[in-house]
Amino acid sequence: MAEADPVKTALFSPFDVRGTRFKNRVVISPMCTYSAHDGIANEWHLTEAAAVEPRGRITHGDLGIWSADHAAALKPVTAFIRRQGALPAIQIAHAGRKASMQRPWHGNGPMDDVDAARGEMPWDIVAPSPEPVREGWLMPAELTVEDIHAIQDRYAAAAGHAIDAGFEVLEIHSAHGYLAHSFLSPISNRRNDAYGGDRAGRMRFTLETAEKVRSVWPDDRPLFVRISSVDADGATEGWQLEDSVALAGELKARGVDVVDCSSSGISGLATAALGKQPMGFRTEYSARIGREAGVATMVVGLILHAEHADSIVADGLADLVAIGREALYDPYWARHAAVSLGVDPGFEDWPEQYGWWLVRREKLLRDIGEAHVAAPPSGG
Ligand SMILES: Cc1cc2nc3c(=O)[nH]c(=O)nc-3n(C[C@H](O)[C@H](O)[C@H](O)COP(=O)(O)O)c2cc1C
Repeated sequence: MAEADPVKTALFSPFDVRGTRFKNRVVISPMCTYSAHDGIANEWHLTEAAAVEPRGRITHGDLGIWSADHAAALKPVTAFIRRQGALPAIQIAHAGRKASMQRPWHGNGPMDDVDAARGEMPWDIVAPSPEPVREGWLMPAELTVEDIHAIQDRYAAAAGHAIDAGFEVLEIHSAHGYLAHSFLSPISNRRNDAYGGDRAGRMRFTLETAEKVRSVWPDDRPLFVRISSVDADGATEGWQLEDSVALAGELKARGVDVVDCSSSGISGLATAALGKQPMGFRTEYSARIGREAGVATMVVGLILHAEHADSIVADGLADLVAIGREALYDPYWARHAAVSLGVDPGFEDWPEQYGWWLVRREKLLRDIGEAHVAAPPSGG
């Protein structure tokens, strides 16, 4: 007997951008793991941000993509991701005033004597204005316009290395208080020149960087930009949601395909994913940005369950759903979601080496009332 047709869901429907097809709407969110030496990838690395220059790393352990050697080390990673049936994507970043920090498990603050004893010294950091993240943190040097252009060129060069490494999707990190976000926010950008002042001036760094990257990144490959939709969730000061709507429209006009809606981190620690918030709280941001800027969106933050992720896409709150920590907890999140939603009742998306076994076990489990599959196969 033939098996039942798979269930069709919004989460497991394809998404086409330029010449690239995403086979479903699930994206593993970029997550630094601070485990590289001189930015070079090793067997540990499967998903995280990569710095566009050494000075732009958050910690000594950050991944980089500023040379051909970095690209070569990432090639096995992209090949592995492709073999798993997914699209290899990279986020390129510059940490700005949040660079030169301790790894999270070494304290997550400015480096101190314990780090020096390990041979890890702080380095000079840069930002739009000489404003440290907090009191007691490193004072960044104010970037000159010449330095700004040089850093933007490094983003474009990094995009070139990402092509050589085999990446098919590229994201520019303009969120979480790192360099590009620190240009956007009036809290960290106190400049009076063309890269500061009013909103147009503060947006200039991110917009020009997107333009330079788009000119290098192939026409048929998607370009994403991750933004902090607001400087701080719930705050009435600083970068606000209407600013993000304006930014998203300008990004779209420059060939950015997807605006990845994160939030906060301008003056707090790292990626600010620890605030007490309801599940999927950023769909409010992605829905408004998508609707008002007419741009495709991705949403991230406290999305754990397949049914919730599916309803976000089905209800038009975002086009793509990024899974962060839940994918660390369950690296097979997408495959488990496909099974629990009944999209892959035959375990056909699993490695053939053991999908074959799991579909037979599923039939056995159904007989004893323990099946995982929502819409069980009808076949024998
Ligand atoms: C270990 C770790 C590293 C992260 N590194 C990055 C990063 O490199 N770039 C980024 O944009 N966000 C980073 N984030 C934030 C995640 O991408 C994600 O936005 C955040 O964890 C919220 O989503 P979640 O609730 O699904 O985990 C990191 C998060 C974690 C837990």
